[in-house]
Amino acid sequence: MCGIVGYVGKSDRTVHVLLRGLERLEYRGYDSAGIAVLKDHHVDVVKKSGKLDCLKACVDPEWKTEIGIGHTRWATHGSANQENAHPHQVGKVTAVHNGIIENMDEIKKELSQANVVFRSDTDSEVLVALLNQIYEKCGNMLMAIEKTMKKVVGSYAVALLCEDDEEHIYVMKKDSPLLLGVGKGEMFVASDYQAFCEDTKEYVLLDDFEYGVIGRSAWHVYKDGKEFQKKIEVLEEREELSEKGEYDCYMHKEIYDIPGVLSQLFLFYEKQDTHHIPDYTKYHKIQIVACGSAYHAGCVGKAFFSHIAHFPVEIEYASEYRYQPILADKDTLVIFVSQSGETADTIYCAKKIKELGIDSLAIVNVYNSTLSRLTDYVYYMRAGEERAVATTKGYSSQVALFLIILREWMQARKCWTASLEEEYQQGKRKLFEVFPTCLKKYEQFPWISKLTEQPMNFFIGRQIDYALSLEASLKLKEVTYLNSCAYPAGELKHGTISLIEKGTVVFAIATDLDTYEKTKSNLMEVKARGAYVILTTLEDVVKEVEADEWILVPNIGHLFQPMITILPFQLLSYHVAKSFDLDVDHPRNLAKSVTVE
Ligand code: F6R
Repeated sequence: MCGIVGYVGKSDRTVHVLLRGLERLEYRGYDSAGIAVLKDHHVDVVKKSGKLDCLKACVDPEWKTEIGIGHTRWATHGSANQENAHPHQVGKVTAVHNGIIENMDEIKKELSQANVVFRSDTDSEVLVALLNQIYEKCGNMLMAIEKTMKKVVGSYAVALLCEDDEEHIYVMKKDSPLLLGVGKGEMFVASDYQAFCEDTKEYVLLDDFEYGVIGRSAWHVYKDGKEFQKKIEVLEEREELSEKGEYDCYMHKEIYDIPGVLSQLFLFYEKQDTHHIPDYTKYHKIQIVACGSAYHAGCVGKAFFSHIAHFPVEIEYASEYRYQPILADKDTLVIFVSQSGETADTIYCAKKIKELGIDSLAIVNVYNSTLSRLTDYVYYMRAGEERAVATTKGYSSQVALFLIILREWMQARKCWTASLEEEYQQGKRKLFEVFPTCLKKYEQFPWISKLTEQPMNFFIGRQIDYALSLEASLKLKEVTYLNSCAYPAGELKHGTISLIEKGTVVFAIATDLDTYEKTKSNLMEVKARGAYVILTTLEDVVKEVEADEWILVPNIGHLFQPMITILPFQLLSYHVAKSFDLDVDHPRNLAKSVTVE
């Protein structure tokens, strides 16, 4: 979602650092971008709708200035046009903002009565106008920020310039990530360390209700009117940036990263003493809370726990969980799953669970992210930077972590049998044996054109295959814009089957031999109504079904099967998007890190 970058330092570096920082934040998804620089008590703002190239075309790279801020905006209040793009400038204050100001109407009304004129439809401009109004009255920016924070309701990460102060960038934060990068003779601010990690490995994480100021060689953080001591964190090697290399886009590259990521992940977590394991014997219930693909990985986790450990697991979308009574107690373990660790709904739920003193565990990729700091136990996905908006290696590593957690859980409860361990070791060996051939094999799907012939494609499956159908369908939708929908195989006939007509593509996933026959019947039902059926099943299953096409996956045993079964669908989505000439890594309207509700 929106990205913030700010720099104070060397005059020949400012524009370069801002534009490169915005480039590094591009992966989050955005629809307009802008920068503001301060020189001779004057702020120049350049902003454009569209991609960064549109902005770059209007910025003089030789611009000499020691201080500036930049932003990529993912539209919430108001369309993605130039007026609504950030930075917003009102009076002496120019700012970039991530988050949502919930009481904007009330503040806007008050400001309008005081003759403030608004140029955009955004809540961000209202926030800037309020900051400016208070600053004009008190003449002290830190005080103005403190007062503003008391008045606004909502979420915000803000970096701002004040015309009266050519040496500092001011910041404030609540519910939206913001970090200070500590360099030598230069200082950075960003919503994500990727914006400045090429220049400094040292950073300070701001917490909610903190605000501060950075200059070339000093930074100060405050809370409730008092200076607040903060620790300097140091970026670890595993957080280094990823490059596309020989691949044409990150999504393709990240699919090829999967075997390496998973093999390192299993190696790491199988070593003793590498992570802090909860006392898994004490819980009576697990709840999994997540959004999007992370939720889908949780569905696989739920299937693991119910089928293998016979343990009750509830799973909820974070956006729903936050508005329902918390039916969890001290005997519940709540597992939050999030690649970014910054998804607003997931974070809100984690805060609520923390307040209630209920144990929580995070499966998260981004080191030191908000989620990782809110939960009692953290299992890092160790997937490296994921830049394509559509997750692939992130999802696969979340699924792998659910298996790792299941094994530890059952070991702690003394129900991980020798035969399960043998299946686990064998499955793991097979997984890495088959990966290279599978990656090659699923690079071509001769029937791709069938997907566009009807308004809708369906995915059906049962149990773990239904969990995989959900992810396969989402992947296809988000990067190809083809309409698709996933159903439990037995549910289709309860209404939706009315949409099946001649040529409708139905992907049936049936790798689970316990439900294979049942899914086969459902497949026959849709086939009888003219559907074009593409069946995904195990290579060693006898091909007695009349499917139109087959996606055969090697049988590597039920523990590891999901990690290989999802692969053809990740590659399929990539290939369809490529064949449509779409921007695979940045699908329209999508954001990588969804920091608003
Ligand atoms: C889909 C995708 C999203 C995310 C969702 C949660 O490819 O990436 O559905 O899974 O927005 O994001 P995180 O995992 O960062 O909480």
